[in-house]
Amino acid sequence: MSGFGLERQRQIFLDGLCGRKPAIPIQPAALEEGARRVMTPEGFAYVAGGAGAEVTLRAKRAAFERWAIVPRVLRDVAARDATVELFGRRLPAPLVLAPVGVLEMAHPEADLAVARAAARVGVPLIFSSQASHPMEACAAAMGDGPRWFQLYWNAVDAVMESFVRRAVACGCDAIVLTVDTTLIGWRPRDLDLAYLPFLHGKGIANYVSDPIFRASLADPGDAVERFAATFPRPSLSWADLPRLRALTKLPLLLKGILHPDDARRALDAGVDGLVVSNHGGRQGRRDRGARRAARGGRGGGGAGARPRAARLRCADGRRCVQGARPGRCRGVHRSALRVRPGPGRRGGGGGGDRGSLGRLRSHPGARGLPHGARDRPGDADAGGLNPSGAARERYGWRRIGGVRLSPSI
Ligand SMILES: Cc1cc2nc3c(=O)[nH]c(=O)nc-3n(C[C@H](O)[C@H](O)[C@H](O)COP(=O)(O)O)c2cc1C
Repeated sequence: MSGFGLERQRQIFLDGLCGRKPAIPIQPAALEEGARRVMTPEGFAYVAGGAGAEVTLRAKRAAFERWAIVPRVLRDVAARDATVELFGRRLPAPLVLAPVGVLEMAHPEADLAVARAAARVGVPLIFSSQASHPMEACAAAMGDGPRWFQLYWNAVDAVMESFVRRAVACGCDAIVLTVDTTLIGWRPRDLDLAYLPFLHGKGIANYVSDPIFRASLADPGDAVERFAATFPRPSLSWADLPRLRALTKLPLLLKGILHPDDARRALDAGVDGLVVSNHGGRQGRRDRGARRAARGGRGGGGAGARPRAARLRCADGRRCVQGARPGRCRGVHRSALRVRPGPGRRGGGGGGDRGSLGRLRSHPGARGLPHGARDRPGDADAGGLNPSGAARERYGWRRIGGVRLSPSI
């Protein structure tokens, strides 16, 4: 990828000599505005919105704006090598494309277009569970290009297992289990428009193409209702992890880790990597920023850091949230707080300087963990989107939500 940016820049300016300007705006704000103009209000709200009053969303952007690099000069940058080795594969840059669901709301080619673009530059694409095209079609569009699979753990284990098997068959290099979306965030923009794409049959291509999911349908038109009844899975817990770990020898990452204790627990459970993420501010209303969470060391507040609250002390010596100066204590003490040095201090690093991918360990290969979790037949009804019978009746669920399975899927 060395020289890719330079090449693109040169092309744009040369086109300019012939009176051609880029069809797609380069300035981020103009790009966003252009997207808003061509997308439906519902599609734009879904992509651009965050949880609650979008405090986390804004804080995230502000954190990136504060981030600064002090360049060193006169170092001969004619040939640059940004390559990294990750899970046994040499990548052109320390960059992985995050899983983004329901891309059909942005463009009809959706994941297929992203897959082709990613393969062209050799950057891994993480296929979303909520993709608009089945993972097999995305894989076919990528040739040998690297790809990973992001998993939402369905309330029916057999569907989750089928997704993992398909991801392995698709040549995915890793499985990324998203752990911050066992409930869907409270997203006012979507709520104001009373619109959730999945209920309109969007972003469920991996389900309607799945043999196990399809076999569970009495009628193909029940797909949306069935999906809504089994997604997400609020009961997911650490006790479920061994079941997934035992399913595949592929590297396993957890996406959505922010707390150092969770990071340690994940690594202890045999997870190979962490994606330090707050889901772009779409899940929690006041989540700690991913960059801050990932940063180790003093003041970082992330894995390995002592939180500020732990350093402040009241006059009586108790650790305090406000403390330190006379009259500031409002009685909120952290006497029980213990944050031990985490992976960041032990040398692994919180990953803040390595992008969103936090601490990554090399894949140790087969683990041979036993099937730890039991079957849970009752889980099929545990999904957070599951409408009550009355609601189904009232809104004619099948009529508005039912999606016909096309024979081509
Ligand atoms: C429209 C949209 C759809 C997304 N879909 C998914 C998804 O299907 N699975 C997932 O794990 N994350 C999904 N994400 C979250 C992104 O993968 C990513 O975490 C986020 O955009 C960047 O925030 P972070 O730096 O906190 O990770 C989605 C984000 C957006 C904006």
